Amino acid sequence: MTSRSISSLSNSVVQTLRECRKATLALFEDVDYDTFCRQAHPDFSPIGWHLGHIAYTEALWVLQRYAGEPPIRGDHRLFAQDGLLKRDRVHLPAIAEVVDYMDTIRSRVLTYLEVAPLEKQERLWRWLIQHESQHAETIAIVLALSQLPTEPNTDATTDWINETNCSASEGDMVLIEASYFEQGSDSIDAMDNERPVQQVYLENYWIDRYPVTCQEYRLFIQAEGYRDRQWWSEEGWNWLQATQTQFPLYWTDDPVYGTHPVCGVSWYEASAYARFVGKRLPTESEWEKAASWNSTAQTRLTYPWGNAEPERTHCNHQHGIGRTTPVDRYPQGQSPWGCFDMLGNVWEWTATWFVGYSNFECFPYAGYSQTYFDNAHRVLKGGSWATRRWAMRNSFRNWYHPHVQQVFAGFRCAKS
Ligand code: AVJ
Ligand code: FE
Repeated sequence: MTSRSISSLSNSVVQTLRECRKATLALFEDVDYDTFCRQAHPDFSPIGWHLGHIAYTEALWVLQRYAGEPPIRGDHRLFAQDGLLKRDRVHLPAIAEVVDYMDTIRSRVLTYLEVAPLEKQERLWRWLIQHESQHAETIAIVLALSQLPTEPNTDATTDWINETNCSASEGDMVLIEASYFEQGSDSIDAMDNERPVQQVYLENYWIDRYPVTCQEYRLFIQAEGYRDRQWWSEEGWNWLQATQTQFPLYWTDDPVYGTHPVCGVSWYEASAYARFVGKRLPTESEWEKAASWNSTAQTRLTYPWGNAEPERTHCNHQHGIGRTTPVDRYPQGQSPWGCFDMLGNVWEWTATWFVGYSNFECFPYAGYSQTYFDNAHRVLKGGSWATRRWAMRNSFRNWYHPHVQQVFAGFRCAKS
């Protein structure tokens, strides 16, 4: 590599680190110390912990592993993934102290970056940016949980008909023709779980053109779907009985949301709804082919619209709007098959368990993906309105336990 291209790589890393950090800190603008330390839900750490953990991870991989600096005293226990239990992460330093800790690490990181052999380390630097991006989305989730109304706005009498104006017609599906396609990614920003690219053959199948909207999902609620055993798997029904869930977590009967995707459903609810309408959840392969495969050119696309970096006109992401949008809002973001909203707006649950592709190799550590190859997590695809562009592409894989309702997640259905 010429020195000129090395320095342009370094400039782009520095710029991206800055941009990413600025957006992370912006989430804390109106946050008080109580909110900073609060565990809004037992499955989630306080937002202040995530902030410290972002910097801790940067120090671990760049300062310790690459620059050979000694660890910073006390921060492993406080901010490492394997330090404290989630419920013990509530005793945090003052906000200003954590921000100071981040600034100190960042300035040392930037000093090291001036002499770093970047061309050999590019994958790790890109991983770090995606790591921060993902924790920032979790921070956005925890903030949404702290702001949830105690009682959801549920007014079954509201008439949603004619309240909305959306071209998405109910039950509109797209036929995806049988063929091989390439799943996953080998690119320099691919996470370990996206690699290596696989050749996958799929028979003909149908997939929804749009994510399931609140208007559509409301019919399931009104048909007493939450009380009707026949739509639920055994595990799903047990979860329903134990939690007494009656609505998606971010549910509202405000008709403004009628054409928005349903958001805040568990995998169990998504599967039950799919059965209710005589469909099923797509496998991850089915989802990814519908998003990424250009059958005319026989090539895979990084994004549904092609290979151009995500812009505001392509999809609802990166807090550009700050909430969900109608599912037909981004015609420019369509996939080659005419599927809308594959990226952004809401994550989409798939039928697939999170496991490694064949010849999987962990990077940068087993605890990033491999620990979760336990047949207990389902794959989500696509990204939400809160997902940053660096962690959003057709091949990107997210994963959560099937009972989790807190993620900005909805789904679309498929049929053989
Ligand atoms: C992929 C979002 C489930 O936040 O637990 C962050 C990503 N892994 N640090 C998570 C992750 C390690 C992960 N998710
Ligand atoms: Fe992490």
